[in-house]
Amino acid sequence: MADLTASFHFMKHFLQETDFTLREAAAVFAHAQELKHTRGRGGPQPLAGQTWAMIFSKSSTRTRVSFEVGIHELGGNPLFLSRGDIQLGRGETVADTARVLSRFVHGLVVRTFDHAEVQGLADAGTIPVINALTDLLHPCQIYADAFTLAERWAAPGGDLLAALRGRKIAFVGDRGCNVANSWIMGANLFGMKISLAGPPGFDAAPEFDALLARSGFAGGYEFTTDAYAAVRDADVVYTDVWVSMGKEEETAERIRVMTPFAVTPELFAAAKPDALFMHCLPAHPGQEVAQAVLDNPRSIIFDQAENRLHVQKAILSALAAAR
Ligand code: CP
Repeated sequence: MADLTASFHFMKHFLQETDFTLREAAAVFAHAQELKHTRGRGGPQPLAGQTWAMIFSKSSTRTRVSFEVGIHELGGNPLFLSRGDIQLGRGETVADTARVLSRFVHGLVVRTFDHAEVQGLADAGTIPVINALTDLLHPCQIYADAFTLAERWAAPGGDLLAALRGRKIAFVGDRGCNVANSWIMGANLFGMKISLAGPPGFDAAPEFDALLARSGFAGGYEFTTDAYAAVRDADVVYTDVWVSMGKEEETAERIRVMTPFAVTPELFAAAKPDALFMHCLPAHPGQEVAQAVLDNPRSIIFDQAENRLHVQKAILSALAAAR
């Protein structure tokens, strides 16, 4: 098993894709691959004796279960805390919550609405923090997605990150959502091209554009209102739900304006002949994607979901190695 301490020297957080350098991301991918292929055979226990708190303010199936299982498999104890169960939900400050939890546990996995909250926990605490989704970004999803593509495209034993370089991903639908934002950041980090299509008025938030610029990737994406233009020459067609958590009051209007951006068999056929279909799930068949596309042999949605476990185990191992 590769030694992550050679790549991770200082305590780190994982709040956005660029919190790891390309070299560090390569180490995480290589470690994830080893963890995946050796799972169930007494793997490393870098979290032995540790407790990692998981503060979740939103629902979750994949993220919650993959982190709980992953922390357990690495020898640690996952402590699930829904927001309503702790004083954070009753007005205790983010900073005090971070300072107190830093005295008890060894790391935080946080799913919340406001990105400033996960940043505040990282800034005020003394333990590593992992962003398990905010309204702005979903970096664990994108690392797992990129790993899934690299696994498909790399030659056996080949360079995983090199397999991503120059490939094109088309994101169709709610082009301002957290997964779209995170894919923009990930595509730039991994040397991929990204084209996004969606209705006018659903652009990325100015907060995201500022964050992208601070990461050195200002303008590193193409937006269009033509779904067919976005998927032309694409190696991957990606979509997400049209009504993200917290946007429920906009449901009718979002369905109305996004219906022309549904991933139908016809739209998927307009990408490269060997293009892959991806969705972070949960999906709403018949809305953002047709059931026939979800069921297409080139749909890799469940590989994505499975790889959340392996990649997050590698991220947890990296942050533990950096102490
Ligand atoms: N893709 C994803 O984050 O799924 P959950 O909301 O079920 O965690």
